[in-house]
Amino acid sequence: MLREVLQSEPEIGVANGRAKVTPVIQVENLHRIYDLGEVQVHALRSVTMTVYSGEFVAIMGASGSGKTTLMNVLGCLDRATRGRYVLDGQDVSKLSKNELARIRNSKIGFVFQGFNLLPRTSALENVELPLIYSGVSHSERTKRAREALRSVGLEGRGEHHPAQLSGGQQQRVAIARALVTNPSLVVADEPTGNLDSRTSVEIMEILQRLNAERNITILLVTHEPDIARYAKRVVTFRDGKIRRDGMVEDRLDASRVLFDLPAIDEEEAEAG
Ligand SMILES: Nc1ncnc2c1ncn2[C@@H]1O[C@H](COP(=O)(O)OP(=O)(O)OP(=O)(O)O)[C@@H](O)[C@H]1O
Ligand SMILES: [Mg+2]
Repeated sequence: MLREVLQSEPEIGVANGRAKVTPVIQVENLHRIYDLGEVQVHALRSVTMTVYSGEFVAIMGASGSGKTTLMNVLGCLDRATRGRYVLDGQDVSKLSKNELARIRNSKIGFVFQGFNLLPRTSALENVELPLIYSGVSHSERTKRAREALRSVGLEGRGEHHPAQLSGGQQQRVAIARALVTNPSLVVADEPTGNLDSRTSVEIMEILQRLNAERNITILLVTHEPDIARYAKRVVTFRDGKIRRDGMVEDRLDASRVLFDLPAIDEEEAEAG
């Protein structure tokens, strides 16, 4: 399945048939130690990796191997204990919490296993939320949120509250929310963990499309090898260290997989 890569160096100049490959993420000797007073948990141990613009990377590894810890650091939700992190050419290792929050809001979109939507708020308002923090006007917010919902196939569902949507639709709202700020990086931690297999492929189809058409760099945590095969590259962690890093040779095309799957009546799926 994997072709080993050294330092994950792509063919410079031609990534995805596009010119110019720039690193989005450069981490060097990254450590994250959780200090619990009596014990210290060394969750990341000297992680060094580079992710280039337009890559689609699956992060795998056993439970407790440090995947979420890494995503939190790369997503600027948390800071490494030591080591260097350069995001989009900017060293973010030593930024204050406020500065990190600003960068997070402008450059990174998040998708979580549990969707993390506000329950008493419409899909449209959920998607608008990140724009409120960036001070975008109300009319512009609505326009961009509608566009983002359309890009995940949810036009016409903007007024629904999360409870009135299926799990797959809720996750699509979460993806729209992640996209609405035009991030250069989307970080998804087990986005298909709560979804059935067909719905999972639908989510992967959206992520593959965003990656291919808009060149959005995607980092996806998954423990399912079948899901990792939709990515272009797989990095496997064990005990806080990278154990394997390779390109996916037999990559799956989600739209083809969906085409071959037996169709489910959408209304029925929503009701069930
Ligand atoms: N906030 C925290 N405080 C202390 N220890 C933590 C904290 N978060 C994670 N850990 C520990 O750090 C290690 C890595 O945890 P992490 O959540 O990154 O694993 P993971 O690979 O995402 O696992 P899973 O597949 O179960 O989600 C584990 O030993 C975990 O117990
Ligand atoms: Mg985790």
